Amino acid sequence: MKINRIISTVIFSFFFLSLFSVAEEKQENKFVGTKVCAPCHKSDKQGKQLDIWQKSKHAEAYKTLTSARADSIAKAKGSKKPAAESPECLQCHTSGAGVDAKLLEKAFDMKEGVQCETCHGAGSAYKSLSVMKDKGKATAAGLTSRKDEKEIEAFCKTCHNEKSPTYKEFKFAERWEKIKHSVPKAAK
Ligand code: HEC
Ligand code: HEC
Ligand code: HEC
Ligand code: HEC
Repeated sequence: MKINRIISTVIFSFFFLSLFSVAEEKQENKFVGTKVCAPCHKSDKQGKQLDIWQKSKHAEAYKTLTSARADSIAKAKGSKKPAAESPECLQCHTSGAGVDAKLLEKAFDMKEGVQCETCHGAGSAYKSLSVMKDKGKATAAGLTSRKDEKEIEAFCKTCHNEKSPTYKEFKFAERWEKIKHSVPKAAK
C-alpha cells in the first residue's frame, strides 16, 4: 500500500512539473526581427545602431555561409548539408536556427545573420517604448546586456573562438571599436 502511495505521488508530481514547464514555454520571448528594432535605433540622436550594424560583417554572416568556400569548409567538418543549412555553422552565424518556428515572428529573418536579437535577446516582451525606456523593466523582460568591457569580451568570445573553423586571433579592443554602437551621452 505504502509503495503504491509513493509511486502515485511521484507520478503526480511529474505530471505537475510538466504542466509547469509548458506554462513556462508559453512565456518564452519571440524573435521579432531587426526591422522591428530599426525605427527607434537609427537616428543620430539614438546613436545609429541600425546603420553601424548594417555596415558590419555581422549583417553578412548568413550570406557568408552561402559561398562555395563555406560549403567546402562544412564538408571538411563532416556536414552532409550545405553550410547555410548546417546547424553547426548556423549556431554562430545567425539567430533562430533550430528555434521552434512558433517563436519566430513574421518580420524575423534568419538571413540577417548575427543581428540585434542575437546579442540582446529575443525582443517580443521588451520592444515597446515604455519598457525600453526603463532599463530595469527591459532587463526583466529579457533584454540581455553586459556590465563592463570584461563581460563584453567574454560574450564576444562565445563565437570568436577556436571552434570557428576560420578562427583568427580575437583582439577585443580593435574588434569592439569596429562594431561599437553607443547611445550618445546627450540622448541619455
Ligand atoms: C519603440 C521604440 C523602440 C523599439 C521598437 C526598440 N527600442 Fe531599444 N530602446 C529604445 C529607447 C528609447 C531606449 C533607451 C535609450 C537611451 O538610453 O536613451 C532603448 C534602449 C535599448 C538598449 C540599451 C539598454 C541599456 O540602457 O543598456 C538596447 C540594447 C536596445 N534598446 C535594443 C533593442 C532591440 C534589440 C530592439 C528590437 C528587438 C529594440 N531595442 C527595439 C527604443 C526602442
Ligand atoms: C553569435 C556569434 C557572434 C558573437 C556573439 C559575436 N560575433 Fe563577431 N562575428 C561573428 C561572425 C559569424 C562573423 C563573421 C561574419 C562574416 O564574415 O560573414 C563575425 C565578424 C566580426 C567582425 C568582422 C571581422 C573584422 O574584424 O573586421 C568584427 C569586428 C566582430 N565580429 C566583432 C565582434 C565583437 C566585438 C563582438 C562582441 C561584442 C562579437 N563580434 C560577437 C559572430 C559573432
Ligand atoms: C564558434 C562559432 C563559429 C562556428 C561554429 C562557425 N563559425 Fe564561421 N565564423 C565565426 C566567426 C567569429 C567568424 C569571423 C572570423 C574572424 O574574423 O575572426 C567566422 C567567419 C567565417 C567565414 C568567413 C571568413 C573566411 O575566412 O572566409 C566563413 C566562410 C565561415 N565562417 C564559415 C563557417 C562554416 C562553413 C561553418 C560550419 C562548418 C562555421 N563557419 C562555423 C564563427 C563561427
Ligand atoms: C555582436 C553583438 C551585437 C549586435 C549584433 C548588436 N549589439 Fe547592441 N550591443 C552589444 C554590446 C556588447 C553592447 C554593450 C552593452 C551590452 O552588453 O549590452 C551593446 C549596446 C547596445 C545599446 C546600448 C548602448 C549604450 O550606450 O548604452 C543599444 C541601444 C544597442 N546595443 C542596440 C542594438 C541594436 C538596435 C542592434 C541591431 C541593429 C544591435 N544593438 C546589435 C552587442 C551587439
